[in-house]
Amino acid sequence: MERISENLSRYKNYNFITALFNVEQLDTLQTFEVRDSDIFLVTYPKSGTIWTQQIIISICELSGGINENLNNFEKMPWLEYRDDRPDYALRPSPRLFTSHLTPALMPPDMKKKKRAKIIYMMRNPKDVAVSFYHFSKALAFMETPESFGSFFEKFLTGDVFAASWFDHIREWHSKRDEYDILFLTYEDMILDLKGAVTKICSFLGRTLSEDAINQVVEKSTFKTMKKDSKANYEFLPKDKFSGDFMRKGQIGDWKNLFTVAQSERVDQLLQEKLGDLSLKIICE
Ligand code: PPS
Repeated sequence: MERISENLSRYKNYNFITALFNVEQLDTLQTFEVRDSDIFLVTYPKSGTIWTQQIIISICELSGGINENLNNFEKMPWLEYRDDRPDYALRPSPRLFTSHLTPALMPPDMKKKKRAKIIYMMRNPKDVAVSFYHFSKALAFMETPESFGSFFEKFLTGDVFAASWFDHIREWHSKRDEYDILFLTYEDMILDLKGAVTKICSFLGRTLSEDAINQVVEKSTFKTMKKDSKANYEFLPKDKFSGDFMRKGQIGDWKNLFTVAQSERVDQLLQEKLGDLSLKIICE
């Protein structure tokens, strides 16, 4: 493990928040026993994680899966941050997990006979950079960026929490045949939330009535989630996080911070680094 800045440590090509990270716990993922009924949500930070959590949790609750009086962080915990939460082996099925990790750090057992379902949520890098910048200012464990410009440079080189956005997308995309995985985008969810909910439902093999689908959609709108104390992450201690997870929830907020030159650099990098993948990346 290599310390790369005041708050970040690098381990297996991934940047962890030093204060929240423990090598031994992370290494236990290499022998983590995956169940066929496990559901994993994987994202690069600020790509719609807590939004997709709410959708998956609502689908499972309405189709008779989980029904606990817990918040979404507890119902669908991050694999990489176990802290003092109970051993995952004791959780009843279906277990729901969230992760920002890359394939190399995930349990290899996920691949056996394409065990478990993975939903990978992607968001355009310009809005991710802006959302990540605001998040970095509010999270106590992170270095406060001096300016958007300085954060932007680190974001492009991957010297931020997690790693490079470009590498994260490429790694998961290139390994997609090894997993039972559904790729979705934040922008598709903004443009057609009901369509995305229906896709997720069908991928998870859950049958929901039209009425239940509409309930999931209603629970997952920005407006409803912002007021939902189990979903809006306002339950995080204020001395650790002083911002707003439910900040704007839009496509194109990057235009308020990016210069034309910064936007062109991202366009060029998208072409250079991911151009061969024929991904549909909607920035506006
Ligand atoms: S984290 O810290 O990685 O878990 O953050 P993450 O949840 O991935 O990203 C937070 C951004 O997602 C937006 N969000 C939503 N957008 C639209 N609709 C709904 N329901 C919704 N829920 C969360 C949230 O506003 C953050 O984006 P920004 O651009 O900062 O507003």
